[in-house]
Amino acid sequence: MTELSKTGAAVGEPSPSDAPSAFLEVRDLKVHFPTDDGLVKSVDGLSFQLEKGKTLSIVGESGSGKSVTSLAIMGLHRLGARGKNVQMSGEIWLDGKELVGADPDEVRKLRGREMAMIFQDPLSAMHPYYRIGNQIVEAYRVHHDVSKKVARTRAIEMLDRVGIPEPGKRVDSYPHEFSGGMRQRAMIAMALVNNPELLIADEPTTALDVTVQAQILDLIRDLQKEFGSAVVLITHDLGVVAEIADDVLVMYGGRCVERGPVDEIFEQPQHPYTWGLLGSMPRIDRETSDRLIPVKGQPPSLINVPSGCAFHPRCPYADIPKGDVTRTVRPELQQVDGGHFSACHLSQEDRTRIWTEEIAPKL
Ligand SMILES: Nc1ncnc2c1ncn2[C@@H]1O[C@H](COP(=O)(O)OP(=O)(O)OP(=O)(O)O)[C@@H](O)[C@H]1O
Ligand code: SF4
Ligand SMILES: [Mg+2]
Repeated sequence: MTELSKTGAAVGEPSPSDAPSAFLEVRDLKVHFPTDDGLVKSVDGLSFQLEKGKTLSIVGESGSGKSVTSLAIMGLHRLGARGKNVQMSGEIWLDGKELVGADPDEVRKLRGREMAMIFQDPLSAMHPYYRIGNQIVEAYRVHHDVSKKVARTRAIEMLDRVGIPEPGKRVDSYPHEFSGGMRQRAMIAMALVNNPELLIADEPTTALDVTVQAQILDLIRDLQKEFGSAVVLITHDLGVVAEIADDVLVMYGGRCVERGPVDEIFEQPQHPYTWGLLGSMPRIDRETSDRLIPVKGQPPSLINVPSGCAFHPRCPYADIPKGDVTRTVRPELQQVDGGHFSACHLSQEDRTRIWTEEIAPKL
């Protein structure tokens, strides 16, 4: 078992013989931040797998640990003053290499080439005072021993690929000379310049208008097809999930409460929180005012996580399982079917009945 050490490094490094066959495998990942108010358990025992050529969508409300998970995979969690004392444990295997216990320099070498990330805010990934083209050139030359000229040609080609008009000219623009959508495209060009095998897109389109959103998602999909990359897509938009994900992972309070193939998550969801999320999904066949029914109540504190099932203070079905079980025993993920898992004390009969009789007819 890997334990949290005081320095935040993982104790008891896994041996290469533990290497999984999946391209990306996260095992019992914990990312905790000591703060003046207490230990913030942003990610608290997360496990999942992802194969090349597939898209995993991570969904869950604000503060559920989606971005912290992505940053941990990328090895970026320690950057910045707030992440200084981060405590991290578990295992992250990328293409046979374990990253939690790895030397940060080794992880840095993988960034760009093996894994890249698209952030919600392009300005967080770009330097405001350097020309866009130069930033893409630098990103390329970190991993390729080529002249600036060759790299510039590659940068122009990438800008063209992401739909920037007149890329030969725009390559010399500064980030502030681009519109929000164009900056997002340029950041995607930068993230994809080395054909990363793993792309993590964290709310890549939230700030953009609907047309540009659709174009950017198409772009991610096309590039994924072309290079067979694995994609982790974090989004609040379940419409996007339905369209492009192969698998879905639902996070609540730093843990996975349900995961499985996209069709099963939409057609036979097993967890009351997932039902709540689906109820809040926009529907094109209804008026806007009917669309969003947010899950009632507040997200859980990550310092004083509710006992038992962390969702119990908000769950309309918390009294159905016998005794005090939902308030005292934390439900573990149980296999529902194939790759479908859910963490809830309700019996299968109760879940099926509630979903088919109470929830599904209202969606
Ligand atoms: N460096 C840090 N120090 C302390 N707490 C942190 C730190 N980074 C993140 N957190 C906390 O961890 C929790 C999870 O944050 P995270 O950014 O992963 O949420 P998220 O699911 O991405 O939410 P959103 O949908 O709003 O982007 C939040 O409560 C956040 O305040
Ligand atoms: S374990 Fe209980 S409280 Fe938690 S989701 Fe299931 S029914 Fe609701
Ligand atoms: Mg986030």
